[in-house]
Amino acid sequence: MVLPTRVRIVEMGPRDGLQNEPGEVPTAVKLEPIHRLADAGLPGVEATAFVSPKWVPQMADHTEVLEGIRRKPGVSYPVLTPNLKGFEAALAAGATEVAIFGAASEAFSRKNINCSIEESLARFAPVAEAAARAKVKVRGYVSCVLGCPYEGAVAPARVAGVARALMDMGCYEVSLGDTIGVGTPGRTQAMLEAVSRVVPVAQLAGHYHDTYGQALANIYASLELGVATFDASVAGLGGCPYAKGASGNVATEDVLYMLEGLGIETGVDLGAVVDIGQWICGVLGKEPASKAGKALAARRAAAARAA
Ligand code: HMG
Ligand code: MG
Repeated sequence: MVLPTRVRIVEMGPRDGLQNEPGEVPTAVKLEPIHRLADAGLPGVEATAFVSPKWVPQMADHTEVLEGIRRKPGVSYPVLTPNLKGFEAALAAGATEVAIFGAASEAFSRKNINCSIEESLARFAPVAEAAARAKVKVRGYVSCVLGCPYEGAVAPARVAGVARALMDMGCYEVSLGDTIGVGTPGRTQAMLEAVSRVVPVAQLAGHYHDTYGQALANIYASLELGVATFDASVAGLGGCPYAKGASGNVATEDVLYMLEGLGIETGVDLGAVVDIGQWICGVLGKEPASKAGKALAARRAAAARAA
């Protein structure tokens, strides 16, 4: 078995990480980690979501965030756009990459974006067409690929069907979301086997929440099948407002530590990401959820005391 030699990590902290924060996070506090994460070498930093402020108040400053980014050449700053209204606002604010987000579960689709899976695909199609005309890249998401908070088990064939539909619209990649972090490595591989029959594995990404502590194991299981793009969130921040109890994405620090140990290149400076995690958690008044991040920060503090 040969693992990929290089992995691309798409940073989720500023969007998936912050969308569920209860207190108001000022725009400047959102912009600082976006800049620092790009400087740390992350090739993609998902910046915000052009969704309804009534549904997700924390993303209400999407225009200010996207317009405020000091863009680093070579880094992409995707933003979520659930419909044409969101896409037009994102384009006006300077988006060069957007993401459309569907689900493999009917109940989650209704709770999250207020429509059925079929209706959601019909809303995404004009977004993808408008994006193609504007030369804006489109990423796709499928949520609930390993389980749904409302329906329970989700069949791999359903995930494959939605992933293929998103690719047919022109997505360059589909990110497979274990929204509530219930997957285990065997089920992750079974799901990936079904999806990779209809979408080439090079165009798949893993987006695993860490609710049950399985995300790193699921990433390793995905690496075994050739998946080489993963979404992760600094300090493990986040959760989906429409999937109660779901914790954040796998922590970027934990993924980097594991990949470094495996000799897999990412181009990302782990130490810099640890610093960003410590900083943002200090501002938000919470403990980082990254075990590697906490251990590395403690080791550094001990070394500084000893010096
Ligand atoms: P709706 O109520 O069905 O929309 O919401 P509507 O078209 O009927 O319009 C109702 C109102 O919303 C109107 O305003 C529209 O203008 C406004 P009103 O006339 O009442 O004042 N509206 C919008 N406003 C701003 N931006 C827009 C927009 N569209 C309509 N784009 C909608 C449909 C999708 C907008 C809504 O359900 C929504 O915003 N949902 C939020 C979904 C969300 O952000 N969820 C979290 C992110 S997904 C996630 O975390 C999963 C992921 O990480 C992968 C994983 O982990 O699985 C990606
Ligand atoms: Mg997510």
